[in-house]
Amino acid sequence: PMNDIILAIETSCDETSAAVVRGGKHILSNVVSSQIEIHERYGGVVPEIASRKHVESITLIIEQAVKESGLSLRDLSAIAVTQGPGLVGALLVGIVAAKSLSMALDIPLIGTHHIAGHIYANELEHNIVYPCMALVVSGGHTELVRMESEGEFQVVGRTRDDAVGEAYDKVARALRLPYPGGPHIDKLAIEAENTIVLPRAWLETDSYDFSFSGLKSAVLAVINQHRMKSLALDEAALARGFQESVTEVLVTKALRAVRHYGAKQLLLCGGVAANRGLRKALAAKCDAEKIPLLVPSHALCTDNAAMIGAAAYLKLKRSQFTDLDMKGDPGFSL
Ligand code: KG4
Ligand code: ZN
Repeated sequence: PMNDIILAIETSCDETSAAVVRGGKHILSNVVSSQIEIHERYGGVVPEIASRKHVESITLIIEQAVKESGLSLRDLSAIAVTQGPGLVGALLVGIVAAKSLSMALDIPLIGTHHIAGHIYANELEHNIVYPCMALVVSGGHTELVRMESEGEFQVVGRTRDDAVGEAYDKVARALRLPYPGGPHIDKLAIEAENTIVLPRAWLETDSYDFSFSGLKSAVLAVINQHRMKSLALDEAALARGFQESVTEVLVTKALRAVRHYGAKQLLLCGGVAANRGLRKALAAKCDAEKIPLLVPSHALCTDNAAMIGAAAYLKLKRSQFTDLDMKGDPGFSL
């Protein structure tokens, strides 16, 4: 299977992507078409529009991925596709394309978990060593996933309300920053000269769960107070206070989980892994505790199909294929 070629498709949210990956490690092509510009004017992803845009571009994106790989459809060993979680109508577009290819080429279909993809993005650039701990932070997810061995996932902590990226986007929206707001808040926070200190949600002492909605409300309260009294607000200081609160909780819980479960590595992944404050704080802590920290490069942190190809490879090695009557599953479990 080391030379097995997987064509992977990802359409769970607002990126239409197809990639060709060899042996779960080597990216031969990874084409990503983002719909951000379309959703930007609505301040968030509109599911119905996302599905329609996926339909418009999926065939072209697949064709381009195959072309850029320098291979032909006949060279493929399997078709992988994100089965969930995600927007059901968006998932469906990738799934229908994947099923058609699987049927026409008579090669296996591999339904893949989106979070497994984010985690295994690390395998495309690094070598994962087990047991390890993954901190998955994106617009839809905030999870601490323990992996005792390859492909074995145990969610030990998750958000009880908003995902980190979601909280970033909502705070950014309140500050009238463009969507997606994460990078804008990050920039404000880094350049800030002051800090408006905000609460940290630690939850129960032994819990690895997260909560960000209280923090988000605290930010909105500060903004409203200033607007009501027509006071000037130091937005950068607020962004920094928010980022510091988020980062401190994420870093502290991730490292506690690493120690508790004896993980040999910490893997950071998902769109929010691009956050400079988080990366810096995690790197410093991991360095002090001599724990290797793995982070994919920016393009592999955000949604892309190569990561789905990397995760699907684990199933291919074990001949865990998916029936053609498979359905997209918004609540798909790891
Ligand atoms: O993984 P991703 O591309 O899509 C999901 O699966 O959700 O993550 C997108 C999220 C958005 O919420 C975006 O605001 C956030 O990642 N993000 C950031 C940064 N860059 C992207 N959040 C904080 N700081 C950043 N630099
Ligand atoms: Zn994602």
